[in-house]
Amino acid sequence: MDAVKRSKVKELLGMQPGQDVLAKGWVRTKRGNKEVAFIALNDGSTINNVQVVVDKTKVDPDLLPRISTGACIAVQGKLVESVGGGQAVEIQACEIEVYGECDPMRYPLQKKDTSFEYLRSVAHMRMRTNTFGAVLRIRNQMAFAIHEYFHGKGFVYLNTPLITESDCEGAGQMFQVTTLDLENIPKNKKGLPDYSKDFFGKQTSLTVSGQLEGELGATALGEIYTFGPTFRAENSNTPRHLAEFWMIEPEMAFYDIKDNMDLAEDFIKHLVKYALDNCYDDIKFLNDRYDSELLPRLEGVADTEFVRLPYTKGIEILEEAIKNGVQFEYPVAWGVDLQSEHERYLVEKHFGKPVILTDYPKDIKAFYMKQNEDGKTVRAMDVLFPKIGEIIGGSERESSLAKLEGRIDELKMSRKNLEWYIDTRRFGTCPHSGFGLGFERLLLFVTGMTNIRDVIPFPRTPKNAEY
Ligand code: 4AD
Ligand code: MG
Repeated sequence: MDAVKRSKVKELLGMQPGQDVLAKGWVRTKRGNKEVAFIALNDGSTINNVQVVVDKTKVDPDLLPRISTGACIAVQGKLVESVGGGQAVEIQACEIEVYGECDPMRYPLQKKDTSFEYLRSVAHMRMRTNTFGAVLRIRNQMAFAIHEYFHGKGFVYLNTPLITESDCEGAGQMFQVTTLDLENIPKNKKGLPDYSKDFFGKQTSLTVSGQLEGELGATALGEIYTFGPTFRAENSNTPRHLAEFWMIEPEMAFYDIKDNMDLAEDFIKHLVKYALDNCYDDIKFLNDRYDSELLPRLEGVADTEFVRLPYTKGIEILEEAIKNGVQFEYPVAWGVDLQSEHERYLVEKHFGKPVILTDYPKDIKAFYMKQNEDGKTVRAMDVLFPKIGEIIGGSERESSLAKLEGRIDELKMSRKNLEWYIDTRRFGTCPHSGFGLGFERLLLFVTGMTNIRDVIPFPRTPKNAEY
């Protein structure tokens, strides 16, 4: 059978009829009549199936009953023009080999329960569904587009550590990494765990952001980006939070906040356009199946200028909305951290397009952000998106040594652990900026999926770490 070279289904569907072909994949459906069977075959290369036509008089009568939904087969035959609608070509089977049968009685993907929640419990079957095939192909294309985008601009791809002693965001939601025996923890004189006995000789955790290390890269190489796993132990069981997610963090020397916003806007629009150009079949499938606003939403964002608005103005708009009868679950006042309902009101109801909110109160943002002259706000920028809320968080960085140290002291953070970072301001400091894009938040937007667990192959959330 392997005399003919195997073609992927995606390639087959674009080939000229008349050739001998070999296809391998999993059976999506089988139907037919007394004379012929029609098998829809998929190999993950595309959302579309190739139709295999089997003349029952020409194959071993024991063969077809072994081929049911989910079975894995190889088919050799002739690619012919399709008589039925729906596809240009189909395979007229000459020879079929069954690699793996699939008992219909025990098959985990029964029609009756294919909820996303159930699918998360059958990890390998989940990837064989049309929906997750589409999502994972889009995820792959987006990862490629991200590298290509930065590569094209001359950014250096910098790998920052996953295990670290630094709590970048200062929020204290880290997963501790230790080899200490938890049943017999060595203690110091104060009766606290003696981390000098731990693997790294100090307390370490999984990273919440590669930014601080990224800043070391930017202040040496000019422009860098990271793209890696990020861990947050916040106990938030929401449709937008994962305990393990992927973040893209560009960091640029000589960029001010405006350059930073321009880059963030151009970057996201580029990715959305790339998705429309390169993942159209998969997006169209998701659009037709779940959310007919998906395609218009993507096309809209690709051509829209984002709103740029200071936080203080944002609060005024929300306060005005409340006066006009809009109800929010969480209170609104200058100084509060915006909740997703507030972000979505601004984006979806008030402006009807993405908003970059800037100049937040310093007390709700991280220590490294550049302080404004007003003494109250910092040069932060969050990019807020329809349906999602915050998709990007970033800022211009504080480049003044005195101001940075002042803020670290004010927040009672340990300067000692940050000397390696503060050195960037001590020796040839420079204005610089950066941001972090949550990869799965981007994918929520591009795929129209509504739960962040459904845009990552193996979601990690509180109480979930199977596989
Ligand atoms: O706003 P965050 O916390 O910013 C940072 O970590 C900065 N150090 C980034 C930087 O300036 N280099 O996170 C950045 C983005 C958020 O906007 C969001 O898209 C995503 O990361 N994110 C999460 N995504 C999924 N699950 C979580 N628990 C997330 N927390 C943040
Ligand atoms: Mg943020």
